[in-house]
Amino acid sequence: MTKLFDAYHLRHHALANRLVMAPLTRSRAQPDGTPGELAAQYYAERAGVGLIIAESTQPSDDGQGYMATPGIYTEAHIAGWRKVISAVHAKGTPIFIQLMHAGRISHPDNTPYHRQALAPSAIEPGSGIFTPGGMQAVPVPREMTAEEIRQTVADFRYAARCAIEAGADGVEIHAANAYLIHQFLAPSSNKRTDEYGGSIESRARFAIEIATAIADEIGADRTAIRFSPGMKLWGIEEGPDGADLYRYLVTELDRLGLSYLHISQYGQDEVLLEDFRKLWKNTLILNRPGRPREQIGSDIASGLADLEAYGQLVLANPDFVDRLKTNASMNEADPRTFFGGDAHGYTDYPTLRETQDA
Ligand SMILES: Cc1cc2nc3c(=O)[nH]c(=O)nc-3n(C[C@H](O)[C@H](O)[C@H](O)COP(=O)(O)O)c2cc1C
Repeated sequence: MTKLFDAYHLRHHALANRLVMAPLTRSRAQPDGTPGELAAQYYAERAGVGLIIAESTQPSDDGQGYMATPGIYTEAHIAGWRKVISAVHAKGTPIFIQLMHAGRISHPDNTPYHRQALAPSAIEPGSGIFTPGGMQAVPVPREMTAEEIRQTVADFRYAARCAIEAGADGVEIHAANAYLIHQFLAPSSNKRTDEYGGSIESRARFAIEIATAIADEIGADRTAIRFSPGMKLWGIEEGPDGADLYRYLVTELDRLGLSYLHISQYGQDEVLLEDFRKLWKNTLILNRPGRPREQIGSDIASGLADLEAYGQLVLANPDFVDRLKTNASMNEADPRTFFGGDAHGYTDYPTLRETQDA
């Protein structure tokens, strides 16, 4: 348990401890995709963790999926993120921005130009999505052309450059949770017959091209990636070669020397995690959804991970690390205020001291 609170070197970044804020979409950005007015306060209040991974952020207009998510591809976005990042850096904590293209998990009503969503294949996920008009079915997306694939890789590259211009310590490529890159990985959403579909190597190609382009643009030491092996939501079925696909990806990406690998472990495959540990030489961050509090720190203690990421606990407890250290009780996250809205459920979760003073 003690290791959890020890300092850690993530390449040239000194982390105060081994706890990480997992990326959390909060849908409170301004209409043009600039982070909202309270975002700097929200993140700075949570800077007691060793590393913050900021919420999913679209690299382009058509990369947006949900309402009021931030972007990082215009001057206004850069200026907005600079405020957030400065506030976090003032607390001495590094921050990565997570780059996400939603692919088919989108709706024309949620994107700036209301275009049909892009995906590896024209297959709808069979799920609903929240839009300004309420809950709607996710429509059938349009199969990306080879040119659109090239453009999307270029968009990721440019967004990574913008993130660095805003002062970010790096970017995390969102290749998890059923969004565009994951849609390329899974045979259920990728029926392509070109070099981006079919075999493991072909399905992995898009992810590797994006990682390679970003590492080339901003440096491998500022480039990271998140996967969610075994995740089954929103029409994602990884198929019988799913574990081999991830072993291949991790092996190939390791060659690039990226900053960290972030695994959100939905599956039950512990052997796969042990394999990642062997195949990946640099930092490994593990997030286990719904991890009971008494198990916090055990993946670091066992040597399976270098850092552990937590979402809901950090969302609801700005002083998460202090509460852990002192074995104090935790606030519970309120799902009704996860997405959209104002300060309520965003910057008004009390610290332990505020609770005691009240
Ligand atoms: C409100 C909310 C928003 C989320 N947004 C993102 C996101 O933007 N990017 C991402 O990779 N995961 C996202 N997730 C998943 C979390 O990063 C994390 O994997 C998940 O909450 C499980 O970890 P936990 O049990 O510690 O919360 C989100 C989860 C929640 C609850």
